[in-house]
Amino acid sequence: MTTPRRIAVVTGANRGIGEAIARLLRDAGLEVLPASREPRDGFVTLDVTRPEHIQALESRLRAEGGLDVLVNNAGASFKGFDAGVARRTLDVNFYGSMRLTDALLPAMKPGARIVMVSSGMGELSHGSGEARARFEEPALTREQLVEHMESFVREVAADRHTRRGWPSNAYSVSKMGLNALVRVLARELAEDPRRILVNAACPGWVRTRMGGTSAPRSVDQGARTPVWLALLPEGGPTGGFFRDERRIAW
Ligand SMILES: NC(=O)c1ccc[n+]([C@@H]2O[C@H](COP(=O)([O-])OP(=O)(O)OC[C@H]3O[C@@H](n4cnc5c(N)ncnc54)[C@H](OP(=O)(O)O)[C@@H]3O)[C@@H](O)[C@H]2O)c1
Repeated sequence: MTTPRRIAVVTGANRGIGEAIARLLRDAGLEVLPASREPRDGFVTLDVTRPEHIQALESRLRAEGGLDVLVNNAGASFKGFDAGVARRTLDVNFYGSMRLTDALLPAMKPGARIVMVSSGMGELSHGSGEARARFEEPALTREQLVEHMESFVREVAADRHTRRGWPSNAYSVSKMGLNALVRVLARELAEDPRRILVNAACPGWVRTRMGGTSAPRSVDQGARTPVWLALLPEGGPTGGFFRDERRIAW
């Protein structure tokens, strides 16, 4: 009997934590399609902000017979802080992960796993007041979450975001949104017969171009929890936020 193919897509897999996640998933026996924003040999070209790249990947996965694991690892942190930076940051870290996940969901096989590489900067303690309370609403819908993220950009442009409890940090807000999206997706998928699990991971502070050279963790250490979530057995947790293979508060 032949073992069924298990296919994984890892975004931002050309370097850093994504490269390590792709390697460790391959070591675990999965067929990995590593994705890179710039065209490279052996990689799927995928800028998560480009709908035509997402569409091409979706078509390819259908032709391959479906997807088992999606790791939304691609992320960016831009210098400075204004409405333009807020928009660009949300486009990659929040909307990029959301649109890719939504587009690939129909191609996901029973038992598929979705992992969002988030950050401790996405913990709700970075926000306060109304901005934080909205994220915490247990019945928050997809539409309300998107509107909340859009209100952040509008309020930064009007220079009144701090009054509602938003931090002056677009990266942090993008990851709060990603953590909230995991909960929304888990609820949306609760009745799906494919029993797909969706979770977020904080890799810790990792030595990469983003994390810098002083970070205490190697890329393999940073990849550990995302890989663990990608390989969760049936009946595993969903809608959670994890660091070092343990659930953490967000
Ligand atoms: N390092 C840390 O301490 C740390 C801590 C917490 C969370 N994280 C998260 O871990 C993830 C990986 O970060 P890293 O530390 O490995 O950073 P990194 O070395 O800067 O790698 C980021 C990766 O994301 C890709 N990327 C950026 N914009 C993209 C886009 N629009 N479309 C597709 N790919 C895009 C980059 O591609 P290019 O090479 O083309 O730029 C690169 O492959 C990120 O989500 C980050 O927020 C990192």
